[in-house]
Amino acid sequence: MKKGKTHRNLSNIVLIGFMGTGKTVVGRRLAQALDRDFIDVDEVVERDAGLTIREIFTRFGEAHFRKLEKDTIRKVSAADNKVIAVGGGAVMDPQNIRNLGEKGLVFCLKASPEVIWERTKKTRARPLLEVDDPMGEILKLLKFRQSYYAQADYVLDTTHLNIDEVVSKIKELWEEKSGRNPG
Ligand code: S3P
Repeated sequence: MKKGKTHRNLSNIVLIGFMGTGKTVVGRRLAQALDRDFIDVDEVVERDAGLTIREIFTRFGEAHFRKLEKDTIRKVSAADNKVIAVGGGAVMDPQNIRNLGEKGLVFCLKASPEVIWERTKKTRARPLLEVDDPMGEILKLLKFRQSYYAQADYVLDTTHLNIDEVVSKIKELWEEKSGRNPG
């Protein structure tokens, strides 16, 4: 485990990673399995703004979305015993990573560009991928963000895993590192 984290200061499980790597679906199921609340930062931003992410991007631009995202991350990072998933770009702000890591064990979910494209094209809208060449954009963003995602305590490749397998892996690592394994 990085950064000298001890089990004393770990309360939250944080999921970061690119769009389409399964953060929301894994986070929801993991929270159920651990009997915790699940917080999806994108959902909180949408609820607080009364607008969808796409509407926020269209009306006010990405910089405004990043500000709302940062405020939300600061607030939710202060909670305890949560499973928290953040949008794919949140990691680019160092303050977000510091806040999330303060009490959280951070897991980065990864997937191949092809799987990311398959998953994102059939799910909810991602304004950043609404471009002429979404696959080119995925490759560009992945390359640019690689070092940011590498800041996680653990990186899990979900390309060949189903949701339950990812959930079990995170649960196992969490119980081991947080000292919360009942056995
Ligand atoms: C973004 C990812 C999205 C959402 C917004 C920007 C990004 O969240 O926050 O569209 O910059 O990668 P998901 O990763 O949950 O799709």
